[in-house]
Amino acid sequence: MVSENMEKALNAQLNAEVYSGYLYLSMATYFEDTDLYGFANWMRVQAEEELEHGMKFYDYIIRRGAKVTLEAIEKPQIEWDSPLAAFEHVLSHEQTVTGLINDLVDLAISEKDHATNNFLQWFVEEQVEEEENAMEILAKVKLAGDSREIFYALNEEFATRTRGASEE
Ligand code: FEO
Repeated sequence: MVSENMEKALNAQLNAEVYSGYLYLSMATYFEDTDLYGFANWMRVQAEEELEHGMKFYDYIIRRGAKVTLEAIEKPQIEWDSPLAAFEHVLSHEQTVTGLINDLVDLAISEKDHATNNFLQWFVEEQVEEEENAMEILAKVKLAGDSREIFYALNEEFATRTRGASEE
């Protein structure tokens, strides 16, 4: 069993993870439109990963005998000024998600809900990786600056991203 409060908070995070997927899928369409297929692929993979995060919450809510309640998904932004602006958004979005996970952990601790705290620790670690990846890619895009050659090389590199075991 989880408390009613916790059930609400877990459902809200399920929604936030699906929204993250929607946001990254929207970024994928932005890159498809600008013919940066490698960048679009990176975002598609990121979107799939977010939906999996959402399903981890879905499964956990069910396992605790609570109810999954699906709410509307907010419309994501659909345009960015530049690839750099999009990746800056990735980093700021992941920092926001880290804050949401931290708030959930705080709630689990305050309720002495050790099982939920334990479940959430996977996400605490995942957010370290998510921010690290976002910072790394942002640095690469910044370094590329106006160089079309480096940008093309990055596009090729991002085209190879697949769902790896470490990303599950
Ligand atoms: Fe589900 Fe990118 O955090």
